Amino acid sequence: MQLGAGATALGVAGKVSILQPGRSWAVTGAVAPSDTVRFASIGTGVRGCEIMKTALSVPGTEIVATCDLYDGRLIAAQEVAQKQLPTTKDYRAILDRKDVDAVLVATPDHWHSRIVQDACAAGKDVYCEKPMTHKVEQGFAMIDAAQQHQRIVQVGSQRRSGIVWAKAREIYQSGYLGEVTAVEAWIDRNDASGAWVYPIPPDASEKTIDWNQFLGDAPRCSFDPARFFRWRCFTDYGEGLPGDLYVHMLTGILTITGLNQAPRRAFSAGGIFRWKEGRDVPDLIWTLYEYPDFRVGMRCNLNNESTDVTRVFGTKGTLEIKGGVLAVSPQKTEPQPEGYSIFGWPEKLRNEYLKEWRQQHPEPVPGKFSVADQLQTFAPPDGYDDQIDHMHNFMESVRTRRPSVEDPVFGNHTAIACHMANYSYFNKTVAVWDEGSKSIKG
Ligand SMILES: NC(=O)c1ccc[n+]([C@@H]2O[C@H](COP(=O)([O-])OP(=O)(O)OC[C@H]3O[C@@H](n4cnc5c(N)ncnc54)[C@H](O)[C@@H]3O)[C@@H](O)[C@H]2O)c1
Repeated sequence: MQLGAGATALGVAGKVSILQPGRSWAVTGAVAPSDTVRFASIGTGVRGCEIMKTALSVPGTEIVATCDLYDGRLIAAQEVAQKQLPTTKDYRAILDRKDVDAVLVATPDHWHSRIVQDACAAGKDVYCEKPMTHKVEQGFAMIDAAQQHQRIVQVGSQRRSGIVWAKAREIYQSGYLGEVTAVEAWIDRNDASGAWVYPIPPDASEKTIDWNQFLGDAPRCSFDPARFFRWRCFTDYGEGLPGDLYVHMLTGILTITGLNQAPRRAFSAGGIFRWKEGRDVPDLIWTLYEYPDFRVGMRCNLNNESTDVTRVFGTKGTLEIKGGVLAVSPQKTEPQPEGYSIFGWPEKLRNEYLKEWRQQHPEPVPGKFSVADQLQTFAPPDGYDDQIDHMHNFMESVRTRRPSVEDPVFGNHTAIACHMANYSYFNKTVAVWDEGSKSIKG
């Protein structure tokens, strides 16, 4: 049995099954020119370059133009594309192009909504990075735009397409876990890069960056490269840890459980304990979510590193995804005589109780059960990356008009949960989702 890198790294022992990658990993060869998806990238920073590369690895795609606000990123994008491309700092010039079928949007979060709506109106399909929105009301406008213009809009939280999460869904649906009442998840980090304190390129200036366009409809302020390159640290442009990392965990949890809705309530606590370089978002946040049938405890901590975990607790079993490796184990559910309170009984009564109990519950035939200690582990093959499946799914939807695997309704539900976590933290109150007014109430 060959272990996937994730399983090996975690030192997983026992029975490990290697999951089969999706169809996208087998697709090679030529695609008819009429099926080629011509796309452009809007926002080609770290993530924009990554997803451009991923999109180019999907057969039958071609990049035709790119847009960013910083000269260095326009150069970086062309290095990834390995060709000279038409470039612009105004995304509307991209949307005006007739040779663009789809756009990849990887700008900071405060720009997602405007660009997605404009792209839909211009007849382009859109892959928009997570989190879908910066503010709650934007999500509904984006859903309307996609529907009105009949566009494919896919949100970029790749767990939605990952094979490990699909296997977890299958196990959940099989009933193996019994009744699930609790879920916990975390993503923790302990270094400057993980805390978004990225280095500033030495040529960053108002000459190389369109600062005014970066601000968009955010509050005006004078040029500040830290705000431009470390935008996640500021509520004007991002949503801190929930928008950056909760959204991945929420996508995974909703995928496993098959839910597609906002939580009913959220309560967060946290603080800025360590990263005091000027950010206005917490470096630790802990949130308790109330979903209809189960509760979720979620946290991100930038002050201690530990392997990412999502754990689903059921009456019959426990499912854990740790570092991308899935493990399921059954709970001991065979009948047992009560073994606590009877020790407060007189010995005679206790013995009678135990005797009677055993008569009613004969000893199991050896080997018949128990499965109680069996742990099953599922790992992706070495080199597997759910981003490839997610991008493949997007390109398939563009070609075939099959609905997106992560449409804006789903993306909106995870984004709302992120906004609820922040609402609770900043307003020091329980955040309540009001479906009627489609808003968060305190
Ligand atoms: N799915 C994932 O795993 C994942 C990982 C990282 C980032 N992301 C998401 O990707 C997005 C980008 O993150 P990043 O780390 O690449 O940030 P980044 O700062 O590295 O890049 C953002 C780029 O967008 C450009 N930009 C800003 N406003 C623009 C506008 N109006 N028009 C065109 N370009 C504009 C900036 O110049 C910058 O180069 C964010 O939404 C983030 O949450 C997703």
